Amino acid sequence: MTQSPDEVVNAWRESAPYWEKHRPAIRRMFAPITRALIEEAAICEGHRVIDVAGGAGEPSLTISEIVGARGSVVCTDIASEMVEAARRESKKLQLTNISFQQCAADQLPFESESFDRAVSRLGVMFFPDPLAGISEMLRVVKPAGSIAFAVWRDRQFNPFFGTVTEALSRYIESPPEGPDSPGAFRFAESGKLAGLLTQARAVDVKERILKFQIDTPVSFEEFWLLRSEMSESLRDKLKQLSEDRIRALVIDLKEASRSYFPNDQMSFPAEAIIVSGKK
Ligand SMILES: C[S@@+](CC[C@H](N)C(=O)[O-])C[C@H]1O[C@@H](n2cnc3c(N)ncnc32)[C@H](O)[C@@H]1O
Repeated sequence: MTQSPDEVVNAWRESAPYWEKHRPAIRRMFAPITRALIEEAAICEGHRVIDVAGGAGEPSLTISEIVGARGSVVCTDIASEMVEAARRESKKLQLTNISFQQCAADQLPFESESFDRAVSRLGVMFFPDPLAGISEMLRVVKPAGSIAFAVWRDRQFNPFFGTVTEALSRYIESPPEGPDSPGAFRFAESGKLAGLLTQARAVDVKERILKFQIDTPVSFEEFWLLRSEMSESLRDKLKQLSEDRIRALVIDLKEASRSYFPNDQMSFPAEAIIVSGKK
């Protein structure tokens, strides 16, 4: 069932403690996506960057290292719990070139042309109106400034998600999501997000597929904990199963994902789409 915009935000507010709890693993798992975004947006020392839907702090925290003391990054997210989680980490790291703002992507409380770059990692697929969010990001970047997005390719290229969905489908019915419903795979189709950037009047729009490994030293059991806590829809579905059914599901999933845990360490092949454009 398609979630309303309020339900989407509430789901992320509830997910925030888990994204904070699993921060080290998440940072490492998605580091190749962060690197690709930074490269695609050509973020350099001295830039002023806005991260939209920055969640518990990525890619903002990594970008703060790249832009250095002469640059700055503003980490924004619609969920205040996410923003607070990001702020806590930056305090811990004693970062001085990063600030935080709770706001929706389609209402960025910043003056036009106030940033060199705008990025969003795995966020745009959850915006109620992605075109409005993209247009806002273009509004706040300077002329010739870049915007860049990372979204997932289809589940078939992403067993990190696909194995769980497939195992779960044997235990609980999951109606297919509509192509424009907010969700991880909303922009999985090649050209779809790039088309929206063009519609928003970005120029020099580019799309590339990023193939990488989700490589993190976690066991299958740790992977299951991380997956079952990070995703609100998964948490919700698991609440509907008895403990016995969950145990059986986990046994099935372990068997189905055996090849992704060589030496008891997670290594999933993964594919994202990196889309960028200029003002
Ligand atoms: C999958 S998480 C990605 C977080 C972070 N960028 C990362 O890659 O770790 C998606 C984020 O989008 C945020 N989000 C959802 N809808 C949003 C909106 N309309 N405006 C701004 N942020 C939004 C959520 O609160 C959540 O933190």
